[in-house]
Amino acid sequence: MGVRVQHGDGTLIKGERGERFLLPALFGWYTPPVRTDPLAFLGEQLDDLKQHGLYRTLRVLDGEAKSTSVYDGRSVVNLSSNNYLGLTTHPKLKQKAIEAIEQFGVGSGAVRSISGTMAMHMELERRLAEFKHTEAVVVFQSGFTSNAGTVASILTRDDAIVSDELNHASIIDGARLSRATIKVFPHGDADAARRILSELPSTQRKLLITDGVFSMDGDLGPLPALCDAAEAYGAIMMVDDAHASGVFGRNGRGTVDHFGMHGRVDIQVGTLSKAIGALGGYVAGNRNLIEFLYHRARPFLFSTSHPPSVTATCLAALDLLLEEPTLIERLWENTRFFKAGLQAHGFNTGVSESPITPVMVGEGAKAMQFSDRLFAEGVFAMGIAYPTVARDRARVRTIVSAAHTREELQYALDVFGRVGREMGII
Ligand SMILES: Cc1ncc(COP(=O)(O)O)c(C=O)c1O
Repeated sequence: MGVRVQHGDGTLIKGERGERFLLPALFGWYTPPVRTDPLAFLGEQLDDLKQHGLYRTLRVLDGEAKSTSVYDGRSVVNLSSNNYLGLTTHPKLKQKAIEAIEQFGVGSGAVRSISGTMAMHMELERRLAEFKHTEAVVVFQSGFTSNAGTVASILTRDDAIVSDELNHASIIDGARLSRATIKVFPHGDADAARRILSELPSTQRKLLITDGVFSMDGDLGPLPALCDAAEAYGAIMMVDDAHASGVFGRNGRGTVDHFGMHGRVDIQVGTLSKAIGALGGYVAGNRNLIEFLYHRARPFLFSTSHPPSVTATCLAALDLLLEEPTLIERLWENTRFFKAGLQAHGFNTGVSESPITPVMVGEGAKAMQFSDRLFAEGVFAMGIAYPTVARDRARVRTIVSAAHTREELQYALDVFGRVGREMGII
């Protein structure tokens, strides 16, 4: 069957061998254009997801992101948020955001390098550098762009990146964009990282990179051993502390502080979107690194800066980290309580060392079904399957926050136990 296209004088028909016929338009006669959908292959892939029980609809939040929230019209204990300290709804932060809108408007109007740098952007960078004990900081629009923009801009096709196999997608994308040689070491294996570094030409520039906290398993990268390896082979050491910011280290300074690695990690990425409760990411390091990123990081150069409300919120959150350490203490108390409860039920909680606790299920469709059953009983814990994790390591991921009450956590544990037993997971 050829392709039919509506044409000014009638309908143009293209035959299979490219021959063309023009059917003249007749009064009162209309043939709708027929066009093959070039995106049909996407539909086929979605059908495949449906057949394998892996198709997801987005859960829609109605109201604020809190420890118990309304999703899809159902009130559920929320164990699927990165809102570690409960700051998304903190009254002081909301007040600062409102004041910033009133004083400075709703947008910056441009990218940072043209006319979109406001005094408060500079203040946040200065405050974050002080907080992280580094010379300087640059703030990006997200944690994703912090990683991808940094890795892609500091490396070239002549360089090498040595990366943990479970590092975040933003690191992988940045590495691909840089065109550097990508060498992957088995998860958490610092000896393997060292071996790879030793086999690379000594003159080649190398970046050794790990997540501080791995977002799907909740375990920590072996930072001290990786720092040793980086130093032994002259590699740049970089850590993505997206899930450690506001969670690990004194006042939430991250894994570099937690492990006492100050001065040994050249590039630290943090987020403002998770524990800090708003949006954004930042890179902390020496002055040259930050000035270079001001000149070369593409998300910095080609994407508009944060609106004043976001920056004001982050500044207020930073004050809270310093003034209210009890927030982080409460997060850890809740973490210990919930993990112990899951383990007492007999769940396999993997290797987690953080508030992220996976409940291992194995098969993808079963993890999704488990998540749906929990949701129906009032607990929102996301099912995570391939390609986010390996095919046989699907899980339901839980994240507790400082804002959860003991009653909420106990309720969730009871539901986990009941549904887990019914589904034969425990
Ligand atoms: C390990 C890790 N790095 C970076 C990011 C990106 O952070 P953001 O959500 O601020 O873009 C995430 C968030 O999913 C993450 O889990």
